[in-house]
Amino acid sequence: MAKQKIAFVCSECGADYTKWQGQCSECKAWNTLKEFKPSAGSKSRSVSFEGYAGSLSQTVTSLSEVDLSEQPRFTTGMSEFDRVLGGGLVKGSAVLVGGHPGAGKSTLLLQTMCHLSESMNALYVTGEESLQQVAMRAQRLNLPMQNLQMLSETNVEAICQTAQELKPAIMVVDSIQVMHVPDIESAPGSVSQVREAAAWLTRFAKQTGTALFIVGHVTKDGSLAGPKVLEHMIDCSIMLESSSDSRFRTLRGIKNRFGAVNELGVFAMLDMGLKEVKNPSSIFLSRESADAPGSVVTVFWEGTRPILVEMQALVDESQMGYPKRVAVGQDSNRMSMLLAVLNRHGGVFTGDQDVFLNVVGGVRIAETSGDLPALVSILSSLKNKALPKDLVVFGEVGLSGEIRPVPSGQERLKEAVKHSFKRAIIPFGNKPKTIDPGVKVWSVKNLQEVLGILRELD
Ligand code: TYD
Ligand code: MG
Repeated sequence: MAKQKIAFVCSECGADYTKWQGQCSECKAWNTLKEFKPSAGSKSRSVSFEGYAGSLSQTVTSLSEVDLSEQPRFTTGMSEFDRVLGGGLVKGSAVLVGGHPGAGKSTLLLQTMCHLSESMNALYVTGEESLQQVAMRAQRLNLPMQNLQMLSETNVEAICQTAQELKPAIMVVDSIQVMHVPDIESAPGSVSQVREAAAWLTRFAKQTGTALFIVGHVTKDGSLAGPKVLEHMIDCSIMLESSSDSRFRTLRGIKNRFGAVNELGVFAMLDMGLKEVKNPSSIFLSRESADAPGSVVTVFWEGTRPILVEMQALVDESQMGYPKRVAVGQDSNRMSMLLAVLNRHGGVFTGDQDVFLNVVGGVRIAETSGDLPALVSILSSLKNKALPKDLVVFGEVGLSGEIRPVPSGQERLKEAVKHSFKRAIIPFGNKPKTIDPGVKVWSVKNLQEVLGILRELD
């Protein structure tokens, strides 16, 4: 019996279905299933890209015999970008750069490509903006423009053909949602087109050793197939995110076959394009308005480095029967857990209070070291007592009120001391062997000790 073809794909998560249904059973999104038509000839026709040194060999080799002598990574020229890619760009890899429209994806890639084109063969394919628009932007940003090769094209087959002649070492396709494969009838941006176009491009990158960047827009309404649909095909998926009110952009790895994810690169969008921010602690810590109750600084671990960030809480008497619990930048369930611990083991009741928690600067803390500072900031707001400006707090809180150690405690403390913090409340398990003179460190074992210290603090 012939195998049934996949006929529907969820535009949110990329799950496959043979029949249409109202809700995606994978990601639970409603009305996101779109018809998927694989191209007629895609099975039978094999595409070959000859003439490349790194052309795919069809012979089987032992893993140990794979040639590793050639250094496959090269730098993008921006250390924050390299960091997110896991230490540089890998030859023959396909990297998806996702983000909301206007996040700065084209700007970031244009800057990178202009600089890279000075030392290697680089091709920028623009399907969204005209060549004039790109050139005007490059000129305004004062970028080196002589060597970058530009192509305005949306037909994937034509792009691959041109690239095959030009043999670029690095190529950008901006964006995947406007690309189309001629064999497929559906409109550009549909699941079928996006999938098939990405498959073509990644196959091209793999077979020719070209490093490929694919731009993908994240859209809310699902009218365009989002980056999730092709995440399984590509090697790295990185997201350029911005908090709406800020000129800072964070670049975050979602998937990386060549390095660790959860690395964070920080950029600032200035009038002269994107600039790297090499010391992110300094931007997340603009605390001129401090001395306000409910504000505390913590050190969280992002990828391979510690970053200082301010956490704020607002505890206010609830006007409704059902008090609000809102956490931004932290897990809401964790906050509910902390409030329960606070009540049970600290005797502090918040059941009749609205509790809001916010991590400043649009940062998301995805690890447990944010527990203790969240607790401390909630207490500070509840008691309406400001904490000292030179205090830093980190640690995990357990369900029995114990304070648990977190990884890399020493480095976190060092980072805080570097930014002239003089006092710290940290887990006992993270107690440093040597403490800088002039720095007061409380290493605590349980919630009771924390409450004692907070009472003592002026
Ligand atoms: P762009 O790279 O076009 O976004 P994307 O490709 O992700 O859709 O970035 C556009 C935004 O960046 C736009 O809203 C204006 C801003 N911007 C600056 O603030 N300064 C600059 O120098 C540039 C080039 C863009
Ligand atoms: Mg763009």
